[in-house]
This record gives sequence, structure tokens and C-alpha cells, in this order.
Amino acid sequence: MRTQVVIVGGGPAGNLLGQLLYKAGIDAVILERQTGDYVLGRIRAGVLEQVSMDLMDEVGVGKRMHAEGLVHGGFDMLFKGERHRIDMNRLTGGKNVMVYGQTEVTRDLMDARQAAGLATVYEADNVTVHDFDTATPRVRYQKDGQSHEIECDFIAGCDGFHGVCRASVPRGAIREFEKVYPFGWLGILSETPPVHDELIYANSPRGFALCSQRSRTRSRYYLQVPLTAKVSDWSDEAFWQELRLRLDMEAREKLVTGPSIEKSIAPLRSFVTEPMRFGRMFLTGDAAHIVPPTGAKGLNLAATDVKYLSNALIEFYQEKSEVGIDNYSERCLRRVWRAGRFSWWFTSLMHRFPENGEIGQKFQEAELDYLINSEAGALSVAENYVGLPLNFGE
Ligand code: APR
Ligand code: PHB
Repeated sequence: MRTQVVIVGGGPAGNLLGQLLYKAGIDAVILERQTGDYVLGRIRAGVLEQVSMDLMDEVGVGKRMHAEGLVHGGFDMLFKGERHRIDMNRLTGGKNVMVYGQTEVTRDLMDARQAAGLATVYEADNVTVHDFDTATPRVRYQKDGQSHEIECDFIAGCDGFHGVCRASVPRGAIREFEKVYPFGWLGILSETPPVHDELIYANSPRGFALCSQRSRTRSRYYLQVPLTAKVSDWSDEAFWQELRLRLDMEAREKLVTGPSIEKSIAPLRSFVTEPMRFGRMFLTGDAAHIVPPTGAKGLNLAATDVKYLSNALIEFYQEKSEVGIDNYSERCLRRVWRAGRFSWWFTSLMHRFPENGEIGQKFQEAELDYLINSEAGALSVAENYVGLPLNFGE
């Protein structure tokens, strides 16, 4: 079999790339290791920057997002028991973010792909990538015990942090930068109305907490927990009790609790791969970089990588130019480092680092005090939170 682009991984990055290429008349096949239901069962962050909303519109799947997503023009930072709003909309001259779960983004893209009759092979086993240092790369996989090979022009590695594409690059050709944080996030999803109409990021002496949401009736909350914590150690009651202790008086009283419908612990990591292109294979999204979730940049970075890649591939096919392909890595990485820096900084500002002692907590509170009382400080938080424009740096 032959196609123009083999996309390894059918998460949000792979599916968005699939739609962008389809709109440009470029043939692609998605190979996904899991079932579609499994992919949709993963709960991830849910804040879209304007560039991500625009991409959903561009590929024609923005309707449900606009109907059901919640537009947020600000968020609260809580410290020393008090909440302070960062008015992103005013500070950035009218920019907002959209609260719309990654699961829903992926579902909308998968539905559109299916409606267009495009090829996704689910439960593709043992995917291997070959000859990406030549003009005719090949991808092999097994499905239902049968072996298959696809010849293509390009391979898009959209296969997440544990994928096969990055792992197939010769070690001498790649540099990896990594920081693992000494704590995790315990997350809970519950069919309860959110405690507040915007998000609350809380710095408390007991540790970080985040009050997020998926809709007006569905909440998502997180607690900073030690790396040794296990989900089984945390009953719903224990979670709600600890969350209350990390919130301000008003939120404590307003908090509506209920049974969890999902509960999981995620480790926090900063990770960047350089470069993101290896001959005719490109890495995108979590395959190339991970940010800690504070600030919800992961999905947005995946979306912009994929947009840069589709532009480069369109340029290649339509204009016979390799300029976009040659610039892909540098273009992505500039944005990746900028958003990665913000995610690291926001994480460092909001979490409890016991090794930094009480003085560490005091410094954090002083920085937060500066940020909310200085127009420049608040603008710096706001402009990073709403995200960079697509043509940033040009
Ligand atoms: N073969 C085929 N598919 C694979 C393989 C493989 N060897 N390895 C992984 N996959 C699939 C996974 O099953 C998954 O569906 O690749 C997909 C990768 O999807 P994600 O991990 O969601 O990564 P990405 O699409 O880059 O999305 C980035 O995910 O982690 C969040 O915060 C992050 O929101 C961001 C988003
Ligand atoms: C979420 O809703 O899951 C979420 C929101 C904001 C973040 C991280 C996660 O910064």
C-alpha cells in the first residue's frame, strides 16, 4: 500500500493533522495502537487557546465547541487565603480561552474523519518506522495477526510520549531535556456544578490545588500529592476534605461535592526533544515535548506543531518547496520553549516544594503579591496564559 503521509498515533495531534491534510487534498493514513473508545477514555486538560479554537474552526469541527465550550476571560489566583482575578481579557486587549475538554476535541475530530470516510487503523500492533532518512519511508504494522507495510513520502510521529517514532531515532541524532517534578496531580472528575465560574489556581501551604471544570454541571479538581501517593489512598471524602483546606472561605462554603466519576494521579514533567525533524519523519505534540499541566499548554502546543507541519507539507506538495519542512523544527521549538518555560514557572510558583522550606513559600507569596498588584506582572501572566499567536516570531 502507498499513501503520502503516515500518521502514527490517533490522539488529538494525529487527528488534527489528518483533518488539515485532508482539507488540503493530501492523503494520509492514521495508525493507532488502541481502540477509538480507549483514546476517548483518557481524561486530559481542557483549556483551548485562541489558536487552537481557530484550528478547530479551520478544519470545520468548531460547531459543538462554540455551542458547549465555556469562554473564560480570566482566572483566579489564590494565596494567603484570598483570591485575586487575572483579567486576561482586559490585560491582553480582548483575548480569551475556551474551556472544552480534550476528550471532546478528539471526539469531534474523530467523528469528522469517520464522516469523510478517511482511513484510521485502530488496534495497529507493533508499528515500526523505516527509511525515514530516504525519500521513501515505510511503516510496518500488524493488524489481527496480519503484517502490513505502507510506503509513504513522510511519517508524522503523533504517537505521544511513549510512542515508537521518537524511540526509533538514532541516539546520536537527538537531544532530550528533562525535568521531573517531585510531586504529582491527583485529579477528580465529578458530576457537580463548578465551585466558581472561572478556574481557581491555589497556592496553599498544604500544596497546590486547581478548581477546573468541563461544563456548568461537571467539575474537574486537582490536588498536589507526593509522588508516593496512590489513588487507592484517596477516598472521595478525603479528596474533598483536603481540597476544602486548600481553598478560601467562600469557595469552601460554595464547594458542592459528590461521587467521583474518574480519579487518577499524573506525574509532572518538563521534557523537550531537539530537533523535531529527522529526515522525512517529524515529531509533534507529546511525542516531542511534555509540559507540566499548570497552565494547560500541552494540547495547544500539539495543535500548533501540527499546524506548522501541515503548512510545511502543503508547501512541499503545492509549491515543490522544502523551506517549510526545513524550518519546521526551529519554528516549533521556539514556541515549545516559550510555553514550556511558562508551564515550568507557573508550576514553580504555585506548588509547595518542601525542600525550599518556609522561606520558599514566603517568596512565592511575595511574587504572587507582585504579580497581582503590578500591571506589568499581571500582563505577563495573562499574555502567556492566552498563548502566542500562530505567526509569533515572524
Ligand atoms: N503505535 C500507534 N499508536 C501509538 C503508539 C504506537 N507505537 N504509541 C502511542 N500511540 C498512540 C496512543 O495510543 C495515543 O492515542 O498515539 C496517541 C498519542 O496521543 P496523545 O498521547 O494524546 O498525544 P498527542 O496527540 O500529542 O496530544 C497531546 O495530550 O498529554 C496530552 O497534554 C497533552 O493535551 C496534550 C495532548
Ligand atoms: C483541566 O481542566 O483539566 C485543567 C485546566 C487547567 C489546567 C490544567 C488542567 O492548567
